[in-house]
Amino acid sequence: MTPEEFRQIGHALIDWIADYRANLRGYPVMSQVAPGDIKARLPTTPPQQAESLDNLVAEIGTAIMPGISHWQHPSFCAYFPANAHFGSVLGDLASAGLGVVGVSWQSSPALTEVEEVVTDWVRQMLGLPEGWLGAIEDSASIATLVALLCARERATNYSAERGGLQAEAKPLVVYGSEQSHSSVDKAALLAGFGRDNIRHVATDGTFAMDPDALRRAIAADIAAGRKPCAIVATTGTTATTAMDPIGALAVIAREHGLWLHVDAAMAGAAMVLPECCYLWAGIEQADSVVINGHKWLGVNFDCSLFFVKQADALTRVMSTSPSYLRTSSDDKVRNLRDWGLPLGRRFRAMKLWLMLREEGVAGIQARIRRDLAMAQWLKRAVERAPDWRVVAPVPLQTVCVRHEPDGLAGEALDQHTLTWAERINRSGRAYVTPAQLQGRWMVRLSLGSSTTEQSDVEALWQTLQWSVAE
Ligand SMILES: Cc1ncc(COP(=O)(O)O)c(C=O)c1O
Repeated sequence: MTPEEFRQIGHALIDWIADYRANLRGYPVMSQVAPGDIKARLPTTPPQQAESLDNLVAEIGTAIMPGISHWQHPSFCAYFPANAHFGSVLGDLASAGLGVVGVSWQSSPALTEVEEVVTDWVRQMLGLPEGWLGAIEDSASIATLVALLCARERATNYSAERGGLQAEAKPLVVYGSEQSHSSVDKAALLAGFGRDNIRHVATDGTFAMDPDALRRAIAADIAAGRKPCAIVATTGTTATTAMDPIGALAVIAREHGLWLHVDAAMAGAAMVLPECCYLWAGIEQADSVVINGHKWLGVNFDCSLFFVKQADALTRVMSTSPSYLRTSSDDKVRNLRDWGLPLGRRFRAMKLWLMLREEGVAGIQARIRRDLAMAQWLKRAVERAPDWRVVAPVPLQTVCVRHEPDGLAGEALDQHTLTWAERINRSGRAYVTPAQLQGRWMVRLSLGSSTTEQSDVEALWQTLQWSVAE
């Protein structure tokens, strides 16, 4: 493809994206295809000869669009908000167009320096202490893995340089809550802690980690000859956006010399609001925190911001310096390969940079305040309705509900819940996610898509009522 051909197809593609975003409401929110439908539209063998992409837009329309669930749709209330603001889309395009790879500062100085600047902007927006440094990882899962690798190494006086975990006398233990995201267990398993050494600490009535239960678990492990290593606290759990008490957990972490990592993947974005910061009071005492730019904040996937209090605790574990990557600037710059697992780094900072400029801090704050207010409206509407129940506190944008008609309980109630959620999703009117809470199914209504307005939330409530009407 020549640059001229790229220009033409690219213009058509940008027009198509703009039309798509302008007409989102016309689509069923959840894709209605059956398994295999999209594969059946594609050849089973690769093209042997070059093919023209002149009809790209039409081909996306016929081959791909039926298999798209519309995450930017105003009635998308599934999983979590994954806003992909236009500024970030343009930034990703610019990054792809430049086609650079960060393997060292020198390999594209702008890639590193923009990342340094914009991660520090986000640090300031979130009120994290000066001196904390950030880097962009692909996902919160990887950031949590990196945090646990650092915790493991710090707790063993950098055992990786000797016999590794296998040579340690005592098994190391990681503590999350029974509401922690599955990525915490996965990270602990991959970091070599072993299933036997992962604790799911009990939660209180708000589904937040109970510090007394944590203390008891730590004491039991010490008595049994194990070595507590790290606490992974969550600011905004996946099921209900519960808030683990960071300050109380930090006291325990300090007493036992544990690494405290905070998973604020979704809810971290709310900390741009001064009135929300009490929800993670004590955050300055943590060792690391992850916030997904690619959720509520507004950057298209993927863009996880990982902040650490002490950079050397991270770089000591992650550093590599093969001869072909060394440069004369190494003592004056940050080489971001030392800040995470991969060597090569995308220019993700470009999309974060453009997204933050597109909306500005005041714009982001206004949008998140709007979302919080809409969630409170929905909560009140559900609470007032007979047979409906809000089953968890609503500190942010997720409202967890159940329809509990008289006479239904246990498995029959579960079946009813799953049936009405599926009815909504199959109708294309909205997209919601059922999840289990204390062993019973409920439905999470996760607001926060930037396109969602008050009228959409009112329509969502109508849809919920429709879904249970015979
Ligand atoms: C609290 C929490 N942590 C971690 C994750 C995983 O995020 P990622 O897909 O960036 O790994 C999620 C995703 O939904 C989450 O809700």
